[in-house]
Amino acid sequence: MNILEHIKQELPWLDSNTVYDLTRGKPAPEQLDITQKYYSQLSTPYEMDDIDLRNYGSPEGLPSARKLGSEILKTNFDETHALDNSSLTLMHQIISCAFFLGFKNSKLHSESKIICPVPGYDRHFKLLENFGIKMLTVPFQKDGPDLNAVKDLLDKESNIHGIVCVPRHSNPTGHTFSDNNVQHLFELLVPFKENFSIYWDNAYACHDIDNTIQQTPADQVATRFGLENNLFQVGSTSKITLAGSGISFISSSKENLSKFIDFRNAITPGPNKMNQGMHVRYFELISIEQQMNELKKIIKPKFELVNEILKPLKDQGYCDYEKPSGGYFYSIDSAKSNADQIVQNCLELGLKLLPMGSCFPYGIDPDKKNIRLAPTFPDLASLERCVTIFHNVLKYLN
Ligand SMILES: Cc1ncc(COP(=O)(O)O)c(C=O)c1O
Repeated sequence: MNILEHIKQELPWLDSNTVYDLTRGKPAPEQLDITQKYYSQLSTPYEMDDIDLRNYGSPEGLPSARKLGSEILKTNFDETHALDNSSLTLMHQIISCAFFLGFKNSKLHSESKIICPVPGYDRHFKLLENFGIKMLTVPFQKDGPDLNAVKDLLDKESNIHGIVCVPRHSNPTGHTFSDNNVQHLFELLVPFKENFSIYWDNAYACHDIDNTIQQTPADQVATRFGLENNLFQVGSTSKITLAGSGISFISSSKENLSKFIDFRNAITPGPNKMNQGMHVRYFELISIEQQMNELKKIIKPKFELVNEILKPLKDQGYCDYEKPSGGYFYSIDSAKSNADQIVQNCLELGLKLLPMGSCFPYGIDPDKKNIRLAPTFPDLASLERCVTIFHNVLKYLN
């Protein structure tokens, strides 16, 4: 009996019509329903902060929306801009601006290299690849990027012009960087500050599921080391309110933001201020903390369920992972170098996973072990089936 026949016998509910999907970190409809419940009570604002929301202009965003961004990212109001819906787009624009105009201490060119802690966010890597930027990987240590590996690269390689980090509940490993790690990381970067970008994607800034350490705001650490012109923080409300219709935020030095506006003025006559106004009104009805608590009620049981199903495999050495304390993902390492076989067999049983290597630059996982699971979208019953398929395939192949 081959593996597929074997597992079909173990899981009699499998059929050839149902598609199970753990590929993307999407909010479940029930999460979006929470937002809709309050959102639908709002009346559309046309004026706010003495600004006509209907018109062009305010390239830095509505002051009240910027305030919201500075609360989410824990940044200074006057160093925080509120823009359109996607922080990934902002990352793209920051990198474009570094390429084509150059910021004071952040300039990219075709020989530039960027340090990428791995496993990491696949879209970051695709974005950098699209610009032809060479990506150099470092592993994680328990509390952030592996600092010895970062130091090694900085010592050996030329033209290293940046690092890309997700400092809280990193996608997909769930790492939350300690203050000690961030301080030492920034300290290592000081000699390179004439041309170095720290891309600090705080997509999961307030997405704790279990107790998570407090972090000193990154701009305070950067300022301590004179790196304020090197730090670019981004975030959004995509996974707080509406994934495709939120607000994104950028925070950097005033000088960098002014250059960024200059660059963006040729891209857009201004952000969507009506949507910003809706979000400001939204958070007058419900606090960010209350909103995140409501979402947690939906997400936490899903994360618990994944752990419940996979922990016995971890305990018996079939795989390794850390249960994340927040964010949107599980990062699983198979005990053998067989991630492609696992993904392929899951697919043949109806479960879609990201292809092997997705969480690594150029799609290359040197150990061929890593698989990302995104448990938020399916309902609990469906998630149980997804993870059970994964469990049985992983166990069989190891
Ligand atoms: C680390 C990280 N950054 C950015 C995004 C996308 O955010 P946005 O919707 O603001 O573009 C995601 C979504 O999965 C993410 O995991």
